[in-house]
Amino acid sequence: MRALLVCFALITVTLTAPFAAAQKIEVSVDASKAGAKIDRHIFGQFAEHLGHGAYEGIWVGTGSAIPNTRGIPNDVVGALKTIKVPNVRWPGGCFADEYHWRKGVGPQRPETLNPNWGGVIEPNTFGTHEFMDFVDQIGSEAYLSVNIGSGTPQEAAEWLEYLTTDQPTALAIERTANGHPAPYKIPYLGLGNESWDCGGNMTAEYYTRQMTIYSRFVRNFNPAQRDTGKMLRIAVGPGGGESRWTDWTDTVMKAWQGHQWSWDMEGLSLHNYTVIKWPPAYASVGFGEKEYAEILQKTLEMDGLIAKHSAIMDKYDPQKKIALVVDEWGAWYAKLPGSPEGFLAQQNSQRDAVLAALNINIFARHADRVRMANIAQMVNVLQAMILTNKEKMVLTPTYHVFKMYVPFQDATFVPVTFDAGTYTQGTITLPRVDAIAAKDAAGTVWMAVTNVDPNRPATITASVAGLTPRAAAGQTLTAPRVDSVNTFEAPTTVAPKPIAARVQGGTVTLTVEPKSVTVIAVQP
Ligand code: AHR
Repeated sequence: MRALLVCFALITVTLTAPFAAAQKIEVSVDASKAGAKIDRHIFGQFAEHLGHGAYEGIWVGTGSAIPNTRGIPNDVVGALKTIKVPNVRWPGGCFADEYHWRKGVGPQRPETLNPNWGGVIEPNTFGTHEFMDFVDQIGSEAYLSVNIGSGTPQEAAEWLEYLTTDQPTALAIERTANGHPAPYKIPYLGLGNESWDCGGNMTAEYYTRQMTIYSRFVRNFNPAQRDTGKMLRIAVGPGGGESRWTDWTDTVMKAWQGHQWSWDMEGLSLHNYTVIKWPPAYASVGFGEKEYAEILQKTLEMDGLIAKHSAIMDKYDPQKKIALVVDEWGAWYAKLPGSPEGFLAQQNSQRDAVLAALNINIFARHADRVRMANIAQMVNVLQAMILTNKEKMVLTPTYHVFKMYVPFQDATFVPVTFDAGTYTQGTITLPRVDAIAAKDAAGTVWMAVTNVDPNRPATITASVAGLTPRAAAGQTLTAPRVDSVNTFEAPTTVAPKPIAARVQGGTVTLTVEPKSVTVIAVQP
């Protein structure tokens, strides 16, 4: 009897969900008004020497049976090229403040330790040249983090000289001997990482003093970056919204406002993970609607956090010269059962697809200040794009969202207004839908709609001012359950499918499924 009841309950859920009434949501898109550019760099990624992120993720080694180009796996490269990764942050994270670049160049690579992440051996086989090759293979740009915590200004300055000078210095000759005569381009440089914690437990004042010294000496000598494409230096910023963090932002920004000619910075970082409590205890798979709603409620805090720190930045930098760089964001769950301690291995579900879209939308709405962001992390770690296991590779739901959002890279934000409605789960009430829009260089308006509600579809009726829509179609991503994932055995459980909208009298109408992310192109 008990078995029968459970069976009946399941059938009820399965039958009711698709037939739940679609609520009508009216959306106004004003394509005649141009907002800020949605910088493509908000789609940046983070690849740390952590777990199987670098080793077995983006690096398999030249002797591997996995098809590779100079040690970098071809399938991973192909997948990352498709989503047009604009920049990759490397080598950390906490790892960066214990990284000594010289151990990762040349024919002799000493084995060292990775005390932050499992205490494993760091072979140093993936070093500076391999990273720059990787970035080149995927058509991206380098965002290096220099070691302020346990390094010296001289070590950082020499790394930059090694990488960027075109003069025949000893370091440039060494770079040439190691296979790269031409100077590298380094467009982004992080000045430390979480210096308030794993990066050295510094106070804001102490960090600011250190950072100004590094800022002075980390010179980029590449002639191609002298006049245009100058290297942007990104200082360590806050890791939350409490007064400890607002004081941090205030201290660094105040110093910047009064800075002398001899130092400068162009960005301030912000780290914010979606995590309910530390240590992360929520499962990345095998959860229910309650955890779905809790995590999404948590992730929406990103908006208030950005607003709070932007307001402090506005005080010292009303012209918004300094970018707020959200260079670590994403969901952080409990480690997968059986995975090694400190490897931060987790699955990636439809919940993460919705979470990713909500965060990207938040960044887009703050496009005037948030000009760069890096999801943590790229492969096999935290909210990854890609999972690998030996010769197998699977694309995650988050990967699909990044792919669907490619048209938003460098498009112009256009205002969207709508009454989002509500989705309630227990004591949690969330906006039911979210939407952003942007215009690309060809005049196409792109709309991204997220239906947070896991039970009810939504019918979106969008009026578009400033353009007469002729046709509208795109892709939608949903899944059987909120915790549906892609696995090596079933890699397409969560995969985008085409969606067409009805265009009539200047109005675009489409019905989006529960717990879905949809991107459509509205053609003029
Ligand atoms: O992304 C994992 C870790 O989270 C990073 O190394 C660190 O910067 C942050 O605390």
